[in-house]
Amino acid sequence: MTPAPRKIFVSSALPYANGSIHMGHLVEYIQSDIWSRFQKLRGHICTYVCAADAHGTPIMIKAREAKITPEQLVTLASKEQLADLRAFGVAFDNFHSTHSAENEELVGRIYQALRDAGHIYTKTIEQAFDEQEKMFLPDRFVRGTCPRCKSEDQYGDACEVCGATYSPNDLIDPVSVLSGTTPVWRESEHYFFRLSAFGDRLREWMAKAALHQNITSKLEEWFNAGLQDWDISRDAPYFGFVIPGTTDKFFYVWLDAPVGYLASFLHLCRQRDDLDFDEYWAEGSKTEAYHFIGKDIVYFHTLFWPAVLQGSGLRQPSSVFAHGFLTVNGKKMSKSRGTFINARTYAKHLDPSYLRYYYAAKLGPGMDDIDLNLDDFTARVNSDLVGKLVNIASRCAGFISKNFDGRLADSLDDEKLYAKFSDAGEQLADHYEAREYSKAMRLIMALADEANRYIEQKKPWILAKDAGKQDQVQAVCSQGLNLFRVLMIYLAPVLPALADKSRHLFREESWTWNSARQAQLGSSIDRYEPMLLRIEPTQVARIIEDSRESMKVSEKAAESPEITIDEFMKVDLRIARIVKAQPVDGADKLLQLTLDLGSGTRNVFAGIKAAYDPAALEGRHVVVVANLAARKMRFGTSEGMVLAAGPGGEDIFLLSPDSGAEAGMRVK
Ligand code: MSP
Ligand code: ZN
Repeated sequence: MTPAPRKIFVSSALPYANGSIHMGHLVEYIQSDIWSRFQKLRGHICTYVCAADAHGTPIMIKAREAKITPEQLVTLASKEQLADLRAFGVAFDNFHSTHSAENEELVGRIYQALRDAGHIYTKTIEQAFDEQEKMFLPDRFVRGTCPRCKSEDQYGDACEVCGATYSPNDLIDPVSVLSGTTPVWRESEHYFFRLSAFGDRLREWMAKAALHQNITSKLEEWFNAGLQDWDISRDAPYFGFVIPGTTDKFFYVWLDAPVGYLASFLHLCRQRDDLDFDEYWAEGSKTEAYHFIGKDIVYFHTLFWPAVLQGSGLRQPSSVFAHGFLTVNGKKMSKSRGTFINARTYAKHLDPSYLRYYYAAKLGPGMDDIDLNLDDFTARVNSDLVGKLVNIASRCAGFISKNFDGRLADSLDDEKLYAKFSDAGEQLADHYEAREYSKAMRLIMALADEANRYIEQKKPWILAKDAGKQDQVQAVCSQGLNLFRVLMIYLAPVLPALADKSRHLFREESWTWNSARQAQLGSSIDRYEPMLLRIEPTQVARIIEDSRESMKVSEKAAESPEITIDEFMKVDLRIARIVKAQPVDGADKLLQLTLDLGSGTRNVFAGIKAAYDPAALEGRHVVVVANLAARKMRFGTSEGMVLAAGPGGEDIFLLSPDSGAEAGMRVK
């Protein structure tokens, strides 16, 4: 008798609905999608949900800047995100939103339960307030000088230079990021969740949840430092849910975000008869529940979230799985290097299957960062997927189609070899279950090597030339195709699109993990179409180029070392009228300008000859740095510098002729 299927709830972290999905996010969504697909293939009842993380100050501000409502921004962004995730084969059973009726209902229920149990209290706190914008500022919206190391322009919660953590009112010379004004400190009543009372229960949960060692040691650190109560409210204006019983207090985004997992599930339960919310989420549930997350949000998922669930009488996650961060070519993703790659940009040039395979080949159960080295990616995909895996099918399918009208042999040529492949299924399943994807991929590729060695030894292309050996050709190629089929079943969680193509090749309706136990014999195959092409290095180069392109302007600005406002104020910018402009003998880029600064004339050399005809410049106004030290050049002394914009060469732009400027005017 086969055991009853497990009932498994799986979530991946909810993407903030204000940006595009990038290669880093995909580590998360591909890892969890593989796991969910694997569980389903094994015959379990697995429900995989996600949602748009809609609330919070950054989304509110971004919508305001774009002159749309936060709801509109969330709808636009999450529609694009979901389309991108689908293109990468990520198959949620439901994708909902934290800004939904279901979430409001559940957050309300949970809050009420926490209140009733005495886990909520209010306290007046002081917080930075922007008087111009009329709003309280989240820590990250205040910047200033670090109180410890005195580095300038640090966030309100932590210093990126010395690592100190503090609160915004510890900053020296704090400034609101929104208005540039100095914030004032204002009192406001906040709602707190008594996390400090949950230490023992969290420790118990931690032991039961069999968390990865990386997470357990983090938790130990936090327990030892002492659990602080958690501020779960924010003042208006805020994009979120109003706290029941108030008019201007909202739930902090991180309170309602994890509830969004449940809301997405509830939304699905209400559409389906075979899913019962309480069966999964009531205290004492016999089902399993797992959250996949990145290492940056472990605190929220292993302290706040299980405590909130405990405190409100719901079941806690069976476990939380955290992965590391993505680096590209060994470094943090960078817009200027073109390695901040959006899902969309990648998919324009390359098949998402390649990335799914590469991530699988790198992923383990821990929180180590994973590197997308683009040369290694190209080499590995070409060698493993094209050179080893697909090669098995392409070497065998042609003979079966041409010489045997697509018909596979009635028996296996090497039953022992086939058994070896199908017996590997249990070990591979253990690897997938334990999220040891890299071990699974290594084992599968070792089997692919064996399949190729088998074909090389048998040499069907030689046998095919001998009229008396046609049976052998059919037997060998049928064996090869069956080995390929087993591997594709094992790879189906990682390469769903390629597995579908392979399944169609064998004209099968569906596959389960156990389909690998039964070879396909005596049946017919479809015509073989090439399944996967090699990656050309030029395709990768184009991805980098496109990623760099879209960021060009903002990145150039970001690359210069910062200067302080004081340093900037030292630059005396003035309007000057061009009295005379003439070419310079022996210098093909320079023009010699005589400038009227209101207080007298100056001689300035400017590298703008390619862009401007000297005669057309006379009478026009330009911005000059008036207090630049004079510099002796080969052609004379330059007494200032003309400012212009543009990439250079013919595209250099001075002030427009009708800018209303007057010589001598200060620019700032
Ligand atoms: N909205 C929160 C999650 C709320 S869950 C109740 C959030 N969103 S996010 O868009 O910033 O990130 C979504 C997921 O992608 C997170 O698990 C995060 O760790 C992961 N990653 C984002 N950038 C990443 C990398 N560069 N590398 C690997 N994972 C990354 O956090
Ligand atoms: Zn510091």
